[in-house]
Amino acid sequence: MFEKISTFLDKVSVLIKGGGEDKLALRKKSGLLTARERINQLLDPDSFNEIDLFVEHSGRDFGLDKQKLAGDGVITGFGKIDGRPVSVYAQDFTVQGGSLGRMHAAKITKIMDMASEMGMPIIGINDSGGARIQEGVDSLAGYGDIFIRNTLNSGKIPQISVIMGPCAGGAVYSPAITDFVFMVDKLSRMFVTGPKVIESVLSEKVTAEELGGAKVHNGVAGNAHFYSESEYDTFAQIRKLLSYLPSAWDVKVPKTKPTPPKSKFKLANIIPDDSRKSYDVKDVIKTLVDGSEFFEVREMFAANVVVGFARLDGDSIGIVANQPKVKAGCLDVDSSDKAASFVRFCDAFGIPLLTLVDLPGYLPGVDQEHAGIIRHGAKMIYAYSEASVPKISVILRKAFGGGYIAMSSKHLKTDFVYALPTAEVAVMGPESACSIIFAKEIREADDPEAVRQQKIEEYKEKFSNPYNPASKGYIDAILHPDETRQKLIQSFELAREKKPVLKKHKHGCIPL
Ligand code: HXC
Repeated sequence: MFEKISTFLDKVSVLIKGGGEDKLALRKKSGLLTARERINQLLDPDSFNEIDLFVEHSGRDFGLDKQKLAGDGVITGFGKIDGRPVSVYAQDFTVQGGSLGRMHAAKITKIMDMASEMGMPIIGINDSGGARIQEGVDSLAGYGDIFIRNTLNSGKIPQISVIMGPCAGGAVYSPAITDFVFMVDKLSRMFVTGPKVIESVLSEKVTAEELGGAKVHNGVAGNAHFYSESEYDTFAQIRKLLSYLPSAWDVKVPKTKPTPPKSKFKLANIIPDDSRKSYDVKDVIKTLVDGSEFFEVREMFAANVVVGFARLDGDSIGIVANQPKVKAGCLDVDSSDKAASFVRFCDAFGIPLLTLVDLPGYLPGVDQEHAGIIRHGAKMIYAYSEASVPKISVILRKAFGGGYIAMSSKHLKTDFVYALPTAEVAVMGPESACSIIFAKEIREADDPEAVRQQKIEEYKEKFSNPYNPASKGYIDAILHPDETRQKLIQSFELAREKKPVLKKHKHGCIPL
């Protein structure tokens, strides 16, 4: 027995060194964590249970048959985050560049299937040269096996991708299907076509960082949801994110102890009387949520709409809010996509939605029309209409045109629609409206400017207030700002009890 144990321990000690001591030392020298260290940093201490350490690769060509590849370049298993089970894999760049062959993929798909059956999130740490070239079509098949599971598990268990090195070629499509992508500055690289190929095909010189670094994917392309400057910060962000999510679609997020917002944030002091002045909607959010803590998602992308998680009376909620200080909080192609995908995530995982409305409408302009604002804007309406989780909206100030309808209006089956006394609901803003409906009168007046001003005042009196929509039942109640948080808590409690009628047909066809 002792001899067998000692053989076992010898084998383990070789395998856990991945690509060997020299390669691990090289990594350390460049300030990078190893794949194993990454897993240990992410999980609760001593909670990692590895499986498939002894799996061997199945490559036979180009000398692979003579090579040992520890764990076939990926570490897989289960552990805990804040005491709740998760599954995790980390590609080991020291083993043939973390490249993905048949057995490497089989290890990943095994834990994906187990996580799906057991109902827990899956977190994939990507650091790989992509499809293992020597294994040919077997590597491509491996990616296909991962992609289909990403798709079938979508909306069932939370899927998180962490990019901590290269993630190139078709390999990017696994993260792209998952719910949240984390990237680290100067470390993560994600692109379909690398800089060398771009140079040879298009004669354009571009660095890997410019092409697909963390800033690009967070701020420009919108493929990533979280940005950080170090691997350690990323692990803290992932742990935080998971605290707002259920382990699977059919279980609840654990409730925490309710805490009041910090008193320095007071709603009545934030929204200016002059509707042309902007303010930071994140300050509004802080007046409403527990501990004034808001965990923002996709902070660097389409900042005219803010999305993220918070807690209300200890329960996790998703928040979508127009940001008046960026492009007046309008809906454009990117902010529509951002909000729609967040709404769908929350709906899939039973996270109630709070929407804070202050927008002049969809962004006008040739650029937006040509970029497909009709198609992208439609996603918002579709996502909110389809969402059957508890939905509450508060109209803070402007709610104009299509934006009024799209931002969780009563017409899209929002459970409770509230407005502050500062709310203004109309087809469009007073200035534009009067220039159309009173054009002739203004043009022919002795004093056109005076008539224009008078018409604007009349229009404001009639439409730019919450009383007109409230008189028709489109707004359920007008709130004193000081009672907003309490009303939201009570209303979510009621809405949680609703029994939505679920669709019986296969699925709708969201405009994509
Ligand atoms: C096999 C690979 C590999 C790969 C790297 N290695 N990528 N082995 N298949 N795809 C090996 C190297 O041979 C080397 O082995 C070790 O990993 C480290 O690689 P280096 O090149 O020395 O490292 P570095 O200089 O840091 O460069 C990393 C890199 C580069 C930028 C990722 O290796 C690279 O460009 N690799 C190819 C990337 C790529 O084009 N992949 C295919 C994408 S297409 P030794 O033995 O020397 O340590 C794709 C299709 C998926 O993935 C389709 C899905 C639908």
